[in-house]
Amino acid sequence: MSGVLYKIINEILNVEDLKFLELGLGGGGGGTFRKINCKHKRGVDTLPIEQIGMDLEGQIFCPMTTDDYFSSGTQEKFDIIFIDACHEYTHVLKDFNNSTKCLNPGGVIFIHDLVPIDANHTQLHLSGDGYNLLYHLWQIGYKNVITMNTDCGLTMFLRPKEQVSPPEENKFVSYDKLMEEYSKRKIYSEDEMTALLIAHFGEQQ
Ligand SMILES: C[S@@+](CC[C@H](N)C(=O)[O-])C[C@H]1O[C@@H](n2cnc3c(N)ncnc32)[C@H](O)[C@@H]1O
Repeated sequence: MSGVLYKIINEILNVEDLKFLELGLGGGGGGTFRKINCKHKRGVDTLPIEQIGMDLEGQIFCPMTTDDYFSSGTQEKFDIIFIDACHEYTHVLKDFNNSTKCLNPGGVIFIHDLVPIDANHTQLHLSGDGYNLLYHLWQIGYKNVITMNTDCGLTMFLRPKEQVSPPEENKFVSYDKLMEEYSKRKIYSEDEMTALLIAHFGEQQ
């Protein structure tokens, strides 16, 4: 669960007018989904509606896997997409590529848990091994990857366009290797990420 994303997003000037999609809401409808001030929201989760919260039934909640959601033929587009469902590398990659196709021009994607707090947190039920995606994106020089120094490496992608192919051999790196690369990269504070996001949506107006 992201503890800060809703605060960052709610700082955007015209946040009410933006369309928000969250992949993986969490029990109770999540700590993020309910707190985001966008008027138009959609959430996808495999949990039954009883665990998500009955008030989210219907239009805004899709009780299904993210794969089923994207293959449902939906034409809906969003300004902000938050990926926080299955934390397995190949699945995060698939959610990322599918999300890029559902973004409005100038849209933004966030992914949670790309920097687990320690090696123990790379277990699937914690942050998982989705960090391999971040490592891969750094290696291929993917543009505008903004990773924060807290909140399990909450990562923001401004205007992501390119589809990302997995490494040729299905290469997984160790947690230590990720941290070695992390120490060489520009990593953003919450304030810096917030400022970039506000400026980004300011430019769209
Ligand atoms: C970490 S929780 C989400 C927390 C939430 N995003 C927040 O910020 O509070 C992960 C959620 O993803 C859901 N999930 C896992 N795999 C999924 C999949 N393949 N499709 C849809 N939802 C999935 C789980 O049921 C769980 O509720």
